[in-house]
Amino acid sequence: MAKTHEELIGRAEIDDLEAILSVTNTDVDEAIHAVEDNAAAIFTWDYEKGAKPKLNRLYEKAKHSMWDGEKDLAWETEVDQEAVVMANAMQMGGLGYGMDLSGTCFEKWTEKEWIELGCESQNWTLSQFMHGEQGALLCTAKIVETVPWIDAKYYASTQVMDEARHVEVFAKYLDTKLSGHYPINAHLKLLLDDIIADGRWDMTYLGMQIMVEGLALAAFGFIHQLTTEPLLKQLLRYVMSDEARHVAFGVLSLQDYYTELTQAELRERQEFAFEAAVRMRDRFLQQEVWDRMGLPVKEAVEIVQMSPERPVFQQMLFSKIVPNCKKLGLLDAGDGWLRERFGELGVIQFEDWADTGEEYEAFALAEGDRRSA
Ligand SMILES: [Fe+2]
Ligand SMILES: [Fe+2]
Repeated sequence: MAKTHEELIGRAEIDDLEAILSVTNTDVDEAIHAVEDNAAAIFTWDYEKGAKPKLNRLYEKAKHSMWDGEKDLAWETEVDQEAVVMANAMQMGGLGYGMDLSGTCFEKWTEKEWIELGCESQNWTLSQFMHGEQGALLCTAKIVETVPWIDAKYYASTQVMDEARHVEVFAKYLDTKLSGHYPINAHLKLLLDDIIADGRWDMTYLGMQIMVEGLALAAFGFIHQLTTEPLLKQLLRYVMSDEARHVAFGVLSLQDYYTELTQAELRERQEFAFEAAVRMRDRFLQQEVWDRMGLPVKEAVEIVQMSPERPVFQQMLFSKIVPNCKKLGLLDAGDGWLRERFGELGVIQFEDWADTGEEYEAFALAEGDRRSA
C-alpha cells in the first residue's frame, strides 16, 4: 500500500506553511531526552579485516586524520559577532538584502534590528549544527553495535570519535564566541528521533550518513565559503574533512546492501529519504529566531522566502543528497517514486552532480595543517 504524504510527513501539501510552523519544540527545558533505539547489538565472529576493501581503506585513512579540537583550532582569535554579521551582510549585498520591505513587519527596522537578527540567526544555526552533531554521535555509536561487518564496526568507531570532536568544537564556539544557544528545532528533533528509533541498521545509515550528513556537508561548505570569520572558517574546514569521509562511509556501505533488497524494501527506504528531506527543509525556516525577535513568524518566513538568494541556498543544501541517493539506486528504484518526490521538492536537478563515494580525498587536510601533529 502506497503511503500518503499525510502518513509520511504529517501534512497533505509539502509547502503548507501553517502546518510546518505548527510543529514546535514543547520541551525546551528538558535536560535529557530518551529515545528507544529498538535494535539488537550484533556480534560478528568473522574478523577478517579488509573483507570490505573500500571500508578498510576508509578506516586506515580515518586513523591518521584525527585532529584535536582544543589544540588545532586558533581559539585565541577574537570574534566580534556584530562586526562579522555586518561583513557577511555586505558580501550578500547589504542588510535586508535590498528587498522592498515597505508594508511588512520589517518596515521599521533599523541597522540595530538587522544586526540583532544576524547574531540570533548565527546562534540558531550553530546551535542546530551542534544538536545535529550529537545526533551523529549517537547514531554512529549505534552503528558500531548493529552493523554486521567487522570493517564497518571498525570504521564507525572512528566516526564516533570524530562526532564527539564536532559536538565539542561547536559547543565551544557557541559558548566562547557567540551570544546564546537555541534548543533543538522541532523538525530536526523529529527526524533524529525517527532515525534513532528505527531498528534496521541500514536505516541509521540512510538517515544519518546519507541525509543528515549529506546536508551538513553542503551547508558547512556554503558557510565556509561565505564567512569572513577566520576561526569559524578553520573550524568548518576541519569538520568538513571528517564529514566527507562519513558520507562516503554511508554510500560505500549501502551500495552493496541495497542490491540485495526487494522492491518493497527499497520503497521503504525511498519513503524514509523523502521524509528526511522534507524535515530538513522545514527546519531551515528557523522559526524560533523569528519568534525570539518578536515578529509574526508566518509573515516573516513568507517574506524571507521571497529573498533572491533563499531558494538557491535551500536547493544547494540538497546538492550532495540527490547524487548520493542516485548512486545508491534509490532515485529510480521501482517506479521512480523518489525521483518524482525530489522533483516536487525542486531539487532533482542535482542528480548528476558529484556523489560523495570517493570525494573525501579532496576534502582531506594537508600535511602540516595541524598544530598538534
Ligand atoms: Fe559531524
Ligand atoms: Fe559526521
